[in-house]
Amino acid sequence: MHIDRRRFLSQGLRVSGAIVLAHDAEGRSAIGSESELKFAALEKRISIGAAVASAQLKGDRDFARLVSDTCSRIVPEWEMKWSTIYRMPGIVDLSGMDYLYEYAKSSGLRLRGHPLLWHSRIPSHIKVGIEEGRARTLMADHFRTVIGRYGNLIDSWDVVNEAIYPEDKHEYGLRESPWFRALGPKYVEEAFILARSMAPNARLVYNDYNIEYDRRKAGYVLALLRRLVKEKAPVDAVGLQSHLWATGKKIDHAGLSDFCKEVRDLGLDILITELDVRERKFDIPFHERDATVAGVVEDYLESIFQYGPPKEFVFWGLSDRYSWLSKPDYNPENPRGYLNRGLPFDDKMKRKDVWAVIYSAIKSIK
Ligand code: XIL
Repeated sequence: MHIDRRRFLSQGLRVSGAIVLAHDAEGRSAIGSESELKFAALEKRISIGAAVASAQLKGDRDFARLVSDTCSRIVPEWEMKWSTIYRMPGIVDLSGMDYLYEYAKSSGLRLRGHPLLWHSRIPSHIKVGIEEGRARTLMADHFRTVIGRYGNLIDSWDVVNEAIYPEDKHEYGLRESPWFRALGPKYVEEAFILARSMAPNARLVYNDYNIEYDRRKAGYVLALLRRLVKEKAPVDAVGLQSHLWATGKKIDHAGLSDFCKEVRDLGLDILITELDVRERKFDIPFHERDATVAGVVEDYLESIFQYGPPKEFVFWGLSDRYSWLSKPDYNPENPRGYLNRGLPFDDKMKRKDVWAVIYSAIKSIK
């Protein structure tokens, strides 16, 4: 599926012209006018999504409306992390996830379940349990709790998140993690088989990052997917987190295209699960930054779309107002905590160039 760059960009510009008409005098989108993207995507059987936090939806009506207008699914930014649910020993706190579930249900949205199994954000008392031989029980209890509670409204699960980290020099390039230490390299297969037994109709996804930049890591992820398919582990798709860089890193287009082709040849779907663009230059004019972000995403989508569009197109956030990349803890390139402009809407909920690029990419799908 090749996108004609000239047509793609000209359409994007024309679309951005049309899009301006859908805004009020201050350039804010009128209610409901932000649905073009999700309806264009749904025509191509693609869902548009965003990571959101319950506090953002509770405290910001404009943002909550933008999410329900723009998206057909949401993903919990942190409400389904083990560090949130099991923060207090003996307590299972799903209040935040319940809020997102009710918001999604009342807004006609679906949810992504993220993440079921991850090496990060595991409370210390849980780590002790894993290390004391209760890994399988803890995994099964967790899966049963969250998969059972939300049913089919969650139709896509990141069953295992970020299991590949070659720098740890383990077998198959697997990351050193409490799950790997307790259950060995086959814990990934185990997780998918367990998830399938509880979510027979959901899309089961292996999710990871840096595949577009690190050919070595991409190779290990591909080898993992091959093993899963060969062993008939019930994996349906790979999630490319797609945390891109505005400058400082170059996408490995050849490696990414090869990766996408191999994934398709395995019969698996490709999802974009956490798209945003990390900036490094905060002292140049907004229009230059926004054009750079749009160009990086356009470039990326050209490689991704070559072998068929992603079934899910999910941003890690929707408005710059809440981007995790504006926080120095998560963006070492932004020690001063400047607003990172790497999402489709700025901090005033106005569309940016990258919105038109994504819209045009989706409209150009045959
Ligand atoms: C991040 C959230 O954005 C933060 O708010 C949270 O404190 C830590 O996790 N890849 C992932 C996501 O799969 O779960 C991470 O989300 C970002 C990187």
